[in-house]
Amino acid sequence: MSPNKIIIQKAEMTDAAVLLDFSRTTFFDFFGPLNDAANMEAYASVAFTSQKILTELINANSEFYFAMLDDEVVGYLKLNFADAQTEFQDEKALEVERIYVSRQHHKKHIGQQLLDFAVDTAVKKQFEYVWLGVWEHNANAIGFYRHNGFEVFSSHEFLLGDDKQTDLLMKRVL
Ligand SMILES: CC(C)(COP(=O)(O)OP(=O)(O)OC[C@H]1O[C@@H](n2cnc3c(N)ncnc32)[C@H](O)[C@@H]1OP(=O)(O)O)[C@@H](O)C(=O)NCCC(=O)NCCS
Repeated sequence: MSPNKIIIQKAEMTDAAVLLDFSRTTFFDFFGPLNDAANMEAYASVAFTSQKILTELINANSEFYFAMLDDEVVGYLKLNFADAQTEFQDEKALEVERIYVSRQHHKKHIGQQLLDFAVDTAVKKQFEYVWLGVWEHNANAIGFYRHNGFEVFSSHEFLLGDDKQTDLLMKRVL
């Protein structure tokens, strides 16, 4: 077994508190230093609440997965199917809405194992493509996706508080 082989574990309703804490912490860790604090709080006060996480967990077309390394949560993934996709809602497509690895575990192929899991899920379901949205200034994630065969095919506006940002939409055809 390679040294950083993770266990990918589906998050259940009972994991809501852990999931909320991890997702909020990683969001602020990565995007806090690059954005206005009030806009971060405005966005997080809607996106990262107990109620929102429970609604997402209960949705049969959304799935969360933890990346576990030595019993510690080191990353997570959110997949959207069918009408849970934030755009297109194509039955033959899978959206990777979120993929985060905690900073101290970057560059250890943990993100890769999560993304491979997402792509394998879509292949098993005989989907046509995997897609995602990524902030145009997130050069690190864009590099990671390009390295994995994703290409930009469109863009959309994303509102962080009152800051209008541009997300690139990237897809990998299967
Ligand atoms: C993007 C992210 C998930 C990548 O995870 P990671 O665990 O650090 O990346 P990995 O170690 O799995 O990288 C896997 C491969 O991609 C390559 N890669 C990673 N980042 C890269 C980059 N910026 N440019 C080119 N290649 C890159 C690695 O070199 C590695 O290649 P190899 O298999 O040939 O050795 C992680 O950096 C992260 O959590 N970022 C913050 C949150 C975020 O931005 N999420 C995306 C929001 S849309």
